[in-house]
Amino acid sequence: MINLSNQRLKQLSIEYGVSHHETLLLLSNILKQEYSKLFFTKSYQLSDENYEKFILNLSRRSKCEPIAKIVGEKEFYGVKFKTTQDTLDPRPETETLIELVREYYPNTLQQLKILDLGAGTGCIGITLLKLYVNASCCFVDISPNALDVAKKNAQIHKVDTQSQFIVSNWFQNVNGDFDVIVSNPPYVETEYPLDKSTLYDPAIALFAGADGMDAYRAILPSVSKYLRPDGLLFIEIGFCQQIDKITSDLRLLCTKKDLSQINRACVLKRLQ
Ligand SMILES: C[S@@+](CC[C@H](N)C(=O)[O-])C[C@H]1O[C@@H](n2cnc3c(N)ncnc32)[C@H](O)[C@@H]1O
Repeated sequence: MINLSNQRLKQLSIEYGVSHHETLLLLSNILKQEYSKLFFTKSYQLSDENYEKFILNLSRRSKCEPIAKIVGEKEFYGVKFKTTQDTLDPRPETETLIELVREYYPNTLQQLKILDLGAGTGCIGITLLKLYVNASCCFVDISPNALDVAKKNAQIHKVDTQSQFIVSNWFQNVNGDFDVIVSNPPYVETEYPLDKSTLYDPAIALFAGADGMDAYRAILPSVSKYLRPDGLLFIEIGFCQQIDKITSDLRLLCTKKDLSQINRACVLKRLQ
């Protein structure tokens, strides 16, 4: 057993160049104790094995690996989602898409048929299933490993019975039509100098060609075929991206800014 004093913990933070806040987050994950409780603890008891794991995790963090990848989970819209090296860690700006869906569908009892295109952890579709109790969702991703994570998250959040999972290159293996299509596709330009920690996310979840528009060009022309007549597409965009010119059979209804005041989520509808 190792008795780790608060003072030693602070020394370790400095030695590894990891903030005290993040050091406590890593410790709370190892000890399976709430972060807030650790704050007021003077010393911590760790088994030899847990201490070794804790030091290893500090060292991973010192090399810029995101906390979410180390602990295997990330919070989105107030709940935790399992994440792995095969999934993009959910981002707070993606919550803008959820807010936009809520604005357009205030009745949470509506029986929405949802398609989550490029599901990753499933954070978007699962959050919507938790909000819209009568909805169903079809989760699509080209990565079978990512889809396994989405499946696991759907089980954890008890929405698996309303969920379907399809490995598909965008719409290729998708049948039927939907009230709501949600998507946060990859939209980073191939040569964009991302910071080191972002590169722990899978490349297929980030990059979309020289101008970052490849995924929009692949998705948008097929959307109207899969949307019900009154259906809506909610799609995330990157900094200054213009997507409404890509197709002539969709009309842009609204663009919503994220908390940093950057245009982040768009709503489009079918031209009848
Ligand atoms: C930016 S991530 C979004 C993940 C998740 N929806 C979120 O918001 O956190 C994009 C996702 O699209 C998936 N993807 C990339 N290319 C795809 C394709 N051609 N067909 C289907 N999914 C694809 C990636 O595997 C990744 O999970």
